[in-house]
Amino acid sequence: MLVAFAACRGQTPEDFFRRGGADFRGTAPETRLYWKPHIERSHRRILEAADFAAGRTAATVLGAGVAAEIPLAELARRFDRLVLVDLDGPSLLESLQQVPLALRPKVELRVTDVTSFAGALMQRMDEEIEASSTQEEALHRLQKLFENLKLGLPAPLPPSDLVISSLLLSEIPRFPFAYASRLVRARFNADLRSWSGYNQAFEKLVSLSIEDHIRLLAALRREGGTIYFSDTLARGPLWSNVTAEARAAFEAALLPGFQSLGLARSPAGLGAAIESLCEAERPFDTEIAAFERLLAACRQSAGNAFEPLLPVAEIQRRAKERGLSLIGAPESWWWLAYPCEIAKGPGAFYVTSWILSRAP
Ligand SMILES: C[S@@+](CC[C@H](N)C(=O)[O-])C[C@H]1O[C@@H](n2cnc3c(N)ncnc32)[C@H](O)[C@@H]1O
Repeated sequence: MLVAFAACRGQTPEDFFRRGGADFRGTAPETRLYWKPHIERSHRRILEAADFAAGRTAATVLGAGVAAEIPLAELARRFDRLVLVDLDGPSLLESLQQVPLALRPKVELRVTDVTSFAGALMQRMDEEIEASSTQEEALHRLQKLFENLKLGLPAPLPPSDLVISSLLLSEIPRFPFAYASRLVRARFNADLRSWSGYNQAFEKLVSLSIEDHIRLLAALRREGGTIYFSDTLARGPLWSNVTAEARAAFEAALLPGFQSLGLARSPAGLGAAIESLCEAERPFDTEIAAFERLLAACRQSAGNAFEPLLPVAEIQRRAKERGLSLIGAPESWWWLAYPCEIAKGPGAFYVTSWILSRAP
């Protein structure tokens, strides 16, 4: 099923999603080498969730994109039908390359909105901003749009034995906001952040996205089925939030790890050792271990160096309301998304994964 957005100024919402995917697909191969632990852990956890599913009729991957962290070939082997859903069609097509030709007839690509509101909201933003004569009028119209924003009907997707949502929920509210920013900039050369209702509207969007997404996960799960849900809960490090005292604690926590990797002998050598990361001086496994130790030491000594991205308590409350319960314990790890930025700023994400089913 294809979502048909109305024609709009310069770049349609569909173009916008495609451009996001193109940027992601353009990530340098050297950067992707640092993603290996994240990809391996995601694969292992998704297959663990698949093991818990009672049936083998269908698996659905929401926000599949290029499926960098989804073991598509193995899922296509295990399930009769594998449905990949995203608003970015070219990325879905690229993801197919993971699947051997013989298994491709089992795979179905759906270029559609996984939410009940985001596509329609983006289209309305486009119309309202286009109809405005001034920046003030545009922001006022956006304000009204957000005040009246409600959930629609859940996306019509097939009931599935395994439902996968990996690194999607935190992105859902970001797309409409980034789209509105682009429209306001293009039409009035203005910054959306000048809108006094910005924070409140974003919080409302996050909250609606959680309600909508958990409702969808619960609705798609077949009897006996499982849900794999993971997301980036925090992003960092924000070094400017690290006080001198926290910095000293961070260095003390980091030193043994860096010593065992042969990267530094004393606290005095830590700065240079951190600076030397990402300079292709040593094997990737050592670099990855160094970054993981650095991030763990930083999180332990300066929690505020990591910006929270999702309200976990709200997700848990919504999941409980929908009768979903946890299988086993959640697992967390680091995704070194932009490794070469970590020494200077936020280049890493803290990922947490849950396997959910229905309470008996
Ligand atoms: C960070 S990526 C997910 C990565 C993916 N799981 C992987 O393994 O590569 C988030 C994806 O969500 C998609 N997305 C965001 N909002 C969406 C929406 N409302 N409907 C459909 N897809 C959406 C984006 O196009 C993007 O491909």
